[in-house]
Amino acid sequence: VDKGLKDYYKSYFKMGVAVRPQDLSGETAAFILKQYNSITAENAMKMGPIHPEENRYFWRDADSIVNFGQRHGIGVRGHNLCWHEQTPAWMFKDADGKQVSKEVLLQRLKDHIFAVAGRYKGKIYAWDVVNEVIDDDSTKFLRNSLWYQICGEDFIVKAFEYARQADPNAKLFYNDYNTERPDKMEKLYRLMKKLVDAKVPIDGVGLQAHWSIYEPSEAELRNTIEKMASLGLEVHITELDMSVYPWEKERRQKRAGESDILTADLEQKQIEQYSKVFKVFRDHKKVVTSVTFWNISDRYTWLDTYPVPGRKNYPLLFDANLQPKKAYWEVVNFKKK
Ligand code: G3I
Repeated sequence: VDKGLKDYYKSYFKMGVAVRPQDLSGETAAFILKQYNSITAENAMKMGPIHPEENRYFWRDADSIVNFGQRHGIGVRGHNLCWHEQTPAWMFKDADGKQVSKEVLLQRLKDHIFAVAGRYKGKIYAWDVVNEVIDDDSTKFLRNSLWYQICGEDFIVKAFEYARQADPNAKLFYNDYNTERPDKMEKLYRLMKKLVDAKVPIDGVGLQAHWSIYEPSEAELRNTIEKMASLGLEVHITELDMSVYPWEKERRQKRAGESDILTADLEQKQIEQYSKVFKVFRDHKKVVTSVTFWNISDRYTWLDTYPVPGRKNYPLLFDANLQPKKAYWEVVNFKKK
């Protein structure tokens, strides 16, 4: 009776959760250990927090997360080594404040990856090496970030090569969001095929899965997973949550007349959507090897504050008291094949 997600899904895939250092003691620590067998640092391993100055690393928070995983024998997913957000400004500038050359930037990327992936070598089962480089604009392919402006596509290839050298046993992933939307899926396929064809050391794709009760459709999700599998890539679901508002709308602050109560109707839609996507994951258990939720419970979710505070969301399987919601029972009570 005292089973958690990880037990119900033992013969399918790892069940993980994004954590903050303060989650790893007391009530939440016990809860994490009951439900999950994988953890990801929500922010602590990103370049800005972990490498605030060129010659200074801040290891405490990331160390505490890796140590927790080691101590309790659960997996740790590394997130992430190269991103356009949460990158410290110094990374792109020389001592005079001028933009650095491609050569300097790639050397800094190498130093960073060797330091971080090297420190946790053998303790991380998968790294999100490169995060979110595909443009959201359907007329453009890759995001015009500073990484791209300075290095072109080479930083993507190099990041994977450095990561493989730094920790040869970690599986290396490309990670992105909205990957089931047809436009973006085509671009994801194009990028992944390019890397695979060029024999870049990449093992898998992270589908972030910041979804809503309205999307993706079952067909879109199946298609995305199958296209990635056709390239020989593993799939991790890396940041799963299910907004009870449409994505575009919930990005805005709560407006006059709008509610932010979890109504029975919204909850029912969420139950159905969770049930649907987990069936698709189970149907692809040879490809989908890890599923991570982005935050522990509806008590705290990044969606409450992004991009502005104001509208309570309920995207997870546990309520604010860490109690399983109806969607939880729907997800764990399935017929095994
Ligand atoms: O820690 C500082 C604090 O010192 C400061 O006073 C405060 C004021 O803004 O900011 C705090 O940092 C915030 C940090 O979260 C920790 O709470 C940042 O502002 C805030 O931007 C940051 O947000 C994170 C976001 O990534 C950054 O873009 C979210 O927690 C995190 O959930 C989110 O995660 C991303 C994944 O890494 C990649 N995929 C999308 C996903 C959701 O955006």
